[in-house]
Amino acid sequence: MTDKLTITAPDDWHVHLRDEEMLERVVAYTARCFRRAIVMPNLRTPVTSVDAARRYRERILSASPEGVAFTPLMTAYLTESTDPDDLEQGFQEGVFTAAKLYPANATTNSAAGVTDLAQIASVLSRMEFIGMPLLIHGEVTDADIDVFDREAVFIERHLRSLRTRHPELKVVFEHITTEQAVDFVGSSNRNLAATITPHHLQINRNAMFLGGLRSDFYCLPVVKREQHRLALRLAATSGDPRFFLGTDSAPHPRAGKDTSCGCAGIFNAPYALESYAQVFAEEEAMHHLEAFASLNGPAFYGLPVNNDTVTLEKVAVEVPKLVNGLVPFHAGETLPWRLQPCM
Ligand code: DOR
Ligand code: ZN
Repeated sequence: MTDKLTITAPDDWHVHLRDEEMLERVVAYTARCFRRAIVMPNLRTPVTSVDAARRYRERILSASPEGVAFTPLMTAYLTESTDPDDLEQGFQEGVFTAAKLYPANATTNSAAGVTDLAQIASVLSRMEFIGMPLLIHGEVTDADIDVFDREAVFIERHLRSLRTRHPELKVVFEHITTEQAVDFVGSSNRNLAATITPHHLQINRNAMFLGGLRSDFYCLPVVKREQHRLALRLAATSGDPRFFLGTDSAPHPRAGKDTSCGCAGIFNAPYALESYAQVFAEEEAMHHLEAFASLNGPAFYGLPVNNDTVTLEKVAVEVPKLVNGLVPFHAGETLPWRLQPCM
């Protein structure tokens, strides 16, 4: 078996870089490995305007390590008052790469999201017309729907009909967690893709309850049963161009995790590629890692692939219990593949 793998440099098609002090603490871990990242707009004050996105992009670039080529790709946070003209202007000026749909109250800082898709029909039509991708947090929020069923119900209640109404709209079904989502994406022949996180490939819902309530494994959409994890692993490692890398790294301060009402989010940026590599190695699919991490995303977004490479080597790496005061995914574990340090 080979003990080195060199691939086109990867991108992260879904990450939370936060702002201010937290941004300073976390951005280097994404920039170390990924050349570009689709940056989520769910700041405490959501990024709803072109100007806000421009300013946020500047703050990210100022906080990024010097000498590292890292391009943040910005997203617009859709609300029921989003103006199609503003959105189009931001897209045509190259500020917005895509727009993010948060169903209201589905997750962190989503209160300003959308309660009724009909309210944004003209926005979606405009995006469809100009070729601007829609990134969807695909969960219903109805209190009577079991939290583990929210993604599957979203597909049936909203996603199927949205795809019929807007067949030319490019849709990324973000951080999918179920075999229903794998099947839905896998049965579509165009304009639909999905990102998959390292944690949804690595853990099932037992992890949240191992010896006690473990908030470090709590994220949204919540991790599901083992059968879903296995379906995600098959999809991610298949080489199918509809599935690509999106870490959903979502750091929270310790106080937000060590509490009786812990925040949703897993900070996986420090060892994300190593985590994916472990999964691909276990599935005997290392030859598909490059497609998942570095080729399928750019192809879907219509962007060029990166023109340099990174190398993974089969050298064990110990994940520290804390990284910059935050608990990283895989804390205290040993991963079998490591990213060769960049010079
Ligand atoms: O676990 C999550 N954390 N899921 C999300 O959808 C949002 C994210 C966050 O921003 O904390
Ligand atoms: Zn996210």
